[in-house]
Amino acid sequence: MKNIILLGPPGAGKGTQARKLVEERGMVQLSTGDMLREARTSGTEMGRKVAEVMDRGGLVTDEIVIGLIEEKMNGARGAGFIFDGFPRTLPQADALGAMLKRSGRELDAVIEMRVDDDALVRRITGRFTCGNCGEVYHDETRQTAKAGVCDVCGSTDLRRRADDNAESLKVRLMEYYKKTSPLIGYYYALGDLFTIDGLAEVGEVANSLADVLDQAPVS
Ligand code: AP5
Repeated sequence: MKNIILLGPPGAGKGTQARKLVEERGMVQLSTGDMLREARTSGTEMGRKVAEVMDRGGLVTDEIVIGLIEEKMNGARGAGFIFDGFPRTLPQADALGAMLKRSGRELDAVIEMRVDDDALVRRITGRFTCGNCGEVYHDETRQTAKAGVCDVCGSTDLRRRADDNAESLKVRLMEYYKKTSPLIGYYYALGDLFTIDGLAEVGEVANSLADVLDQAPVS
């Protein structure tokens, strides 16, 4: 059983790789972005506030995301957790450490996916996903086999995210450098940090991740 964090800026490929790990290793993906996208459709006041913050590229409050992740962790079973997009701030990292400890689990690896900003812009502005199964595509690097139809589930509900535009991306990147990148030092100091080249082709990134997973000590 391995519990890992995928750490990287918007568009680093966290979701793409997390989906592969779920398929290939039976791990459980805990994506706070997906949880918040679900919450924003709830029609509640909280959902409305979440939508406003996400669309402009800001970070939702620690209190909300910690609550969401704790709820999902309690009900999930699988061959370890992949924390995708969480933690994103130092208080979230402290809260995760405490949650894992309370549940008798350990963190095995924090994998920093390094990608330069120019590539991130190209990746984010070309991304689209299947609204039914969540499969991730790209206009240039990963098109559907049949235009407008998801390869995995056959749905024609292909969508672009409201925050995948140049203006929101600027804010998202700034939030990453200001509030999330300090976690690199935090986890380095704890001895949990591994860094991989996120610029490589998807299969090569998956191989680098597998190498880390297979060498990280088992909890
Ligand atoms: P979230 O959904 O987590 O978005 P993000 O971190 O900005 O990351 P992305 O989903 O944009 O990118 P990714 O790294 O998963 O890349 P992907 O695999 O899709 O968060 C959204 C918002 O929710 C935040 O802005 C914030 O408001 C809020 N939020 C979420 N968590 C929060 C938290 N903990 N605290 C507070 N607020 C929170 O790949 C991108 C594209 O690149 C795809 O098209 C893909 O096909 C392509 N691609 C992937 N890998 C490669 C490769 N190796 N080579 C070429 N192309 C590739």
